[in-house]
Amino acid sequence: MRVAMIGTGYVGLVSGACFADFGHEVVCVDKDKEKIAALTRGEVPIYEPGLNEVVAINARAGRLKFTTELSGAVAEADAVFIAVGTPSRRGDGHADLSYVYNAAREIAAVLAGFTVVVTKSTVPIGTGDEVERLIREANPSADVVIASNPEFLREGAAIRDFKFPDRIVIGTSDERAKKVLGDIYRPLSLNQAPLMFTARRTAELIKYAANAFLATKITFINEIADLSEKVGADVQEVARGIGLDNRIGSKFLHAGPGFGGSCFPKDTRALVKIALDHDVPLRIVEAVLAVNDNRKRAMARKVAGATGGGLRGKTIAVLGLTFKPDTDDMREAPSIPLVTGLLDLGAKVRAHDPVGIEQARRELPDIEYCDDPYACVRGADAMVVVTEWVQYRTLDLARLKAELAQPVVVDLRNIYRPEEMAAHGFIYESIGRSSEPRK
Ligand SMILES: NC(=O)c1ccc[n+]([C@@H]2O[C@H](COP(=O)([O-])OP(=O)(O)OC[C@H]3O[C@@H](n4cnc5c(N)ncnc54)[C@H](O)[C@@H]3O)[C@@H](O)[C@H]2O)c1
Repeated sequence: MRVAMIGTGYVGLVSGACFADFGHEVVCVDKDKEKIAALTRGEVPIYEPGLNEVVAINARAGRLKFTTELSGAVAEADAVFIAVGTPSRRGDGHADLSYVYNAAREIAAVLAGFTVVVTKSTVPIGTGDEVERLIREANPSADVVIASNPEFLREGAAIRDFKFPDRIVIGTSDERAKKVLGDIYRPLSLNQAPLMFTARRTAELIKYAANAFLATKITFINEIADLSEKVGADVQEVARGIGLDNRIGSKFLHAGPGFGGSCFPKDTRALVKIALDHDVPLRIVEAVLAVNDNRKRAMARKVAGATGGGLRGKTIAVLGLTFKPDTDDMREAPSIPLVTGLLDLGAKVRAHDPVGIEQARRELPDIEYCDDPYACVRGADAMVVVTEWVQYRTLDLARLKAELAQPVVVDLRNIYRPEEMAAHGFIYESIGRSSEPRK
């Protein structure tokens, strides 16, 4: 099949590269000239494990091409995927659909032959209807079907998620579109990936409902963590104890500093707005957002508490800046409100991240960056683990203690064991694990 992928970001590039890996002819289109120039030179502009190899192999085989020119790619394609950004709209939290609608208008003008236009971006319910209206208005004679195919990949594990998905949701009732999309995803069907066909609006809602549910699960365990600290319980054991129940499941029960990232915050905000527009307030999701926002802000106070009060004049070493490990993505990372809060409280902040420093500099220009975690903690009054990069788990604790001016560690991801930290003489604070001896 011939595929055009409009938008070559985290989702578009991974999807395009994986479709090419399935054997399809893929052209990835982006407005960002620098991004396309880099990709054409063989440089992948984002950090995503395994992506360089998939891009290189398929580009070399001639199945994966990059361009800033949408027209040729769309005219040739059996399916055109829209994978542009849908960030929060400034001011009201609705999804900003301007990129999707602009892409739809550009696609409409150059359609040729039967084409399925597929929205892969996460979009509010009814966006497919509007994309269809725009395209039919601009090009009434086009032989086109508009379908929805939301994407569930996780950054950091995107290639595996794309190739071994739990499910593929396809929102269309048109038989020709089902055939085209069924053929595109056929290599996965042979792996027994469940292909689920639904109406278009249902597919659009599935994506938001999935993200809101996962954000709720994280927020639930975060509140249980706060209670665990107060009552002398261990939230990790509570999570395991409830997660082993198949009805609950163990995933997304890791207490931490609050969820961030490119999807959960904006998608929960958008779902709340969509629901209000339909007069069906989603109180649970509203509470999740409010609890999460407060939590992220509270983390700077937690650090201040661990250092014995005020932070003015103190130096805090922050390990990990990206919103999770194995990505360079800083969008709505919990490190941003934490670092800002530390600066507001008068601290000096030094930070390390294995791959995110370049992106972090744009968000957090007023801190010092270090290329090495030990240099980062040298002379600091506390070390704070914000992102659980695997290399932080194996840091030499004795060396850390020797480098720090004060032996204070605030572990917002629970990567260390309290007993071990105590044995090394650290003042150690983590999430949902009381520092008092347990009864
Ligand atoms: N990042 C994730 O983990 C993830 C997971 C599932 C779903 N999604 C959804 O997928 C969509 C894309 O997310 P992303 O993280 O890949 O975004 P991104 O910002 O990384 O990439 C979007 C790209 O689209 C390009 N673009 C915008 N308008 C264009 C146009 N008219 N023509 C060509 N290119 C255009 C931009 O230049 C940018 O490179 C969003 O709706 C997001 O919610 C993201």
